[in-house]
Amino acid sequence: MSYERDNIRSLDAYTPGEQPDRGDVIKLNTNENPYPPCEAVMRAIGQVPADALRRYPSPQAGRFRQIAAQVHGLSPQQVIATNGGDELLRLAISVFCNVEGEPSKRTGIGVTEPTYSLYPVLASIHNTPVTSIPLNADYSIPDSFAKDMVSSEVGLVLVVNPHAPSGRLEPVEKLLAIAETLRGHAVLLVDEAYVDFAEIDALPLLDEKHELDNVILLRTMSKGYSLAGLRFGYGLGHANLIAALDKARDSYNTNALSQAAAAAALEHRDAAATSWQAVIGERQRMGDALMSRRFMVQPSQTNFILVTPPAIAGGQRLSDADAAADLYQFLKAANILVRYFDHEGLRDKLRITIGTPQQNDALLQAIDDWLTAGR
Ligand SMILES: Cc1ncc(COP(=O)(O)O)c(C=O)c1O
Repeated sequence: MSYERDNIRSLDAYTPGEQPDRGDVIKLNTNENPYPPCEAVMRAIGQVPADALRRYPSPQAGRFRQIAAQVHGLSPQQVIATNGGDELLRLAISVFCNVEGEPSKRTGIGVTEPTYSLYPVLASIHNTPVTSIPLNADYSIPDSFAKDMVSSEVGLVLVVNPHAPSGRLEPVEKLLAIAETLRGHAVLLVDEAYVDFAEIDALPLLDEKHELDNVILLRTMSKGYSLAGLRFGYGLGHANLIAALDKARDSYNTNALSQAAAAAALEHRDAAATSWQAVIGERQRMGDALMSRRFMVQPSQTNFILVTPPAIAGGQRLSDADAAADLYQFLKAANILVRYFDHEGLRDKLRITIGTPQQNDALLQAIDDWLTAGR
């Protein structure tokens, strides 16, 4: 006997990147920041008084909200704190998308293909359909994207920018045009999980002069601020959208420790920015090094690169997809984890998180071993 709803029974659950317990693994598979959080963050966690743990936390993460508003030039009513960016995604789907079968518009999410693989899983959990539009060959968003989403009558469009898993960054003008076309039809959530490693962000979309009442930006402390283990993210957007999301969240969705740490992290952005610069420098070096080894490397504005390995290793010719899967296994045996997606369009590629210079050197060495020795 199974008691769960049909859509949960048939659900293909999200597969997160491997999280090994052992400390000797070089983890370049889940886009974590290779550097630790700054000292001010660790101090803030240590200084949380016992009384703050005895009591319930601020329901809306009041102090964090104030700081985030100030940092981004918005009002606190335009900020919502969440248990990781992932909670914001789940909230947005449950707040803006009707469920399959309801005789109404605004059913389903609209996404690009490929995209962050959690989106369709969250849609399935909510029992709302997914409209998926393929990206162009260079991972840019097709010009007809927003119009097609309006025709599909989706409730929420999720665009990850910079894009995952390619690393491509779309210009603000393009996002603006998408938001304008969707206005009055659907909410646009721009997932900026990787924005700290990019040249520009989508904040201009929230400028009042654009009168966009349908835009939310997702931010996370997991990548740029080295706090993936803390589980803290936030949304920025029109106050009406934020108020709607706020109604649907758990009463205490973020905790006293994470609120203190996230507030300190935003107050000390300069410290985190040092790690962004280091990652950006290494991203360039790794891209060049891999291209000189005949890898195809997508230009990236994130803390990872999507690469296509050459289909010859150790003098042996492999199919494109075999080469990526083979290199993934070879690296794993050498205690280096990267991400392999067994998905259409990605089977010949690996997504590699940028690590410290030492980790990256170890990866290059292992790749050289694969290229010369093969399987
Ligand atoms: C594109 C994208 N969006 C959102 C997230 C959510 O991150 P978190 O829940 O750690 O804040 C991730 C995490 O990997 C991501 O890759």
